[in-house]
Amino acid sequence: ATTRYEAEGSSATCDGTIDSNHSGFSGSGFCNTDNASGASAQFTVDAPAAGEATVGVRFANGGSDARPSNLVVNGATVQAPSFESTGAWNGWVTKTLTVRLNAGSNTVRLSATGSGGLANIDYVEVTTDGGSTEPPT
Ligand code: GCU
Ligand code: CA
Repeated sequence: ATTRYEAEGSSATCDGTIDSNHSGFSGSGFCNTDNASGASAQFTVDAPAAGEATVGVRFANGGSDARPSNLVVNGATVQAPSFESTGAWNGWVTKTLTVRLNAGSNTVRLSATGSGGLANIDYVEVTTDGGSTEPPT
């Protein structure tokens, strides 16, 4: 199953502002973090069972430099994805990451490691099949 978690959703946090000035986002806005190292967007995501999940991060980076980050799952840094320039702030792209989740509630945090902060973050989509009793389609 795939579930979308909007950056402006009630279970997400954004170290910055929820903006809507660059078109093409899903829902009512996107997270524009402060342009500072450590600025984060955090999502609380559910998994039906422990196991691997894919996390699709929809982002836009209209700057010319990539925006590096740490991916922190349940408090542990598991990857260091970098969000490349997408050419324009309304140029939304999805980057797919693979993580292990616990059964139940998990925190998935992107935390900037560069002074530019994160790219603008629209949502994450989490795909888990661990709870399925049917073969994948
Ligand atoms: C611009 C843009 C913001 C973006 C920011 C940045 O101000 O409008 O949406 O977050 O640049 O460089 O991070
Ligand atoms: Ca920003």
